[in-house]
Amino acid sequence: MALSNYVLTQIGRMWYYEKNKVGPLFLTLKKALALDKAELERLFPHGLNSLYTWVGIPIQTTDNTCKPPARLEVTDFREVYLDHNATTYIRREVAQVLHDFHEGRLGFANPSSGTLQGQAAFNHVDRCRETLARLLDVSAPELTFTGCGTESANAIIKGVAYRAGAGSLGHTPAPHFVCSTVEHSCVLEPHRWLERLGCNVTWVNPRPDGVLDPADLAAALRPETVLVSAMMVNNEIGTINPIPEIGALCRDRGVPLFVDAVQAFGKMPLRPRDWGVSFMSFSGHKLYAPKGVGLLWQDKDQVLEPYLHGGGQENGHRSGTENVGYILAMTTAAELAYREMDREMDRLRSLRNEFLAELRRIEPGIRVNGSLEHRSDANLSVAFPGVDTGSMLLSLNNIGVSVSAGSACSSGKIKTSHVLKAIGADYPGYGTIRFSLGLNTTRDGLNYVSKYLPEILAQIKE
Ligand SMILES: Cc1ncc(COP(=O)(O)O)c(C=O)c1O
Repeated sequence: MALSNYVLTQIGRMWYYEKNKVGPLFLTLKKALALDKAELERLFPHGLNSLYTWVGIPIQTTDNTCKPPARLEVTDFREVYLDHNATTYIRREVAQVLHDFHEGRLGFANPSSGTLQGQAAFNHVDRCRETLARLLDVSAPELTFTGCGTESANAIIKGVAYRAGAGSLGHTPAPHFVCSTVEHSCVLEPHRWLERLGCNVTWVNPRPDGVLDPADLAAALRPETVLVSAMMVNNEIGTINPIPEIGALCRDRGVPLFVDAVQAFGKMPLRPRDWGVSFMSFSGHKLYAPKGVGLLWQDKDQVLEPYLHGGGQENGHRSGTENVGYILAMTTAAELAYREMDREMDRLRSLRNEFLAELRRIEPGIRVNGSLEHRSDANLSVAFPGVDTGSMLLSLNNIGVSVSAGSACSSGKIKTSHVLKAIGADYPGYGTIRFSLGLNTTRDGLNYVSKYLPEILAQIKE
């Protein structure tokens, strides 16, 4: 009885919510915070609808374009994780290393300590550095362990900038940077920050297929250019840049090249030194190691101004006691990825291509974003016609399928990805979904997606 009264009250309030474009969440906030509508609107400048998308409730009734998800009867519900570009789980062998470390079987001491135990910890870190250097064909002292890919990128860009005098009053000419427009935010944002400090940045768009043209980068170089940034593999559309060509060009012109290799690490052989690259960044959590550990490579001839000053760990490049357990975990993950690379990438490529053929059968109007030829085997970014990305994402989520959106319905509005915009793939009326494959991707899992996709599309297509 009490429940049905509650339901009736809610239904009775619907007209009010509809008319005022507010809902129970807004009213709850108003009550709890004692703020009036104008004040709440100031707090949520994208509109009160943003309250709903902010907490993950899709908007169905008002004036924005985020549409409701499909509702499906799924009898064989299962989880299918197709978001490996966002992050990966910790694989069993890596979990075992972490377990051993946390149980104290690999020691616990501070690698900087002169004790016997400290020496053992130091040796662990040292061996990891040697192993990773072998995988990347570089020298061990050129590698620095960091806390994540974002830290590595910031350390490189800002370390170069400080050396070049960025931010010094009256420094002329101001240091100049060249950066591709489709980089991850951890590369874009430090450049934007440097612009605010008075540096100049030339932003270079890739071609419509998502791949950078070395000639465009060459045309952007100036005598005062101190760094070029071009990623190895794009995190959204998986396109691979011609880094050996770009590296040769930068070497000829005497300009250091920074390559964000976070999405490439463990998925393709990397030869930064041979390719003429000066700096490379890596992250653990994209290759089945934990979040919170990263790596930075700098060519021995390059000098970076340190960004963390303190005890002088990591050859003075990055002070702070090393995260020995996570360094061991990332190294184990990298060794396994390199050992399995050829077989695993062949497997993912054939699964990905079969899945794409199936998607084309289900919806012949799909468009693949970016080059298929120059693309990581683990990525498929597809634009579906007549579909709202947010509702597609939620529809897949509701049946246990995890993917990412190319344009996210956030803050109550559709926010188009900077990558899709830069390559002109923000087609009106299309919704983009990124499927990213990994170790736990199976044909069965992909078949599950294909099985329910026709019904989802039928329900959400406009
Ligand atoms: C291409 C790329 N670079 C950098 C990063 C940032 O790495 P982290 O999450 O370790 O900071 C990511 C993570 O999504 C990425 O995809």
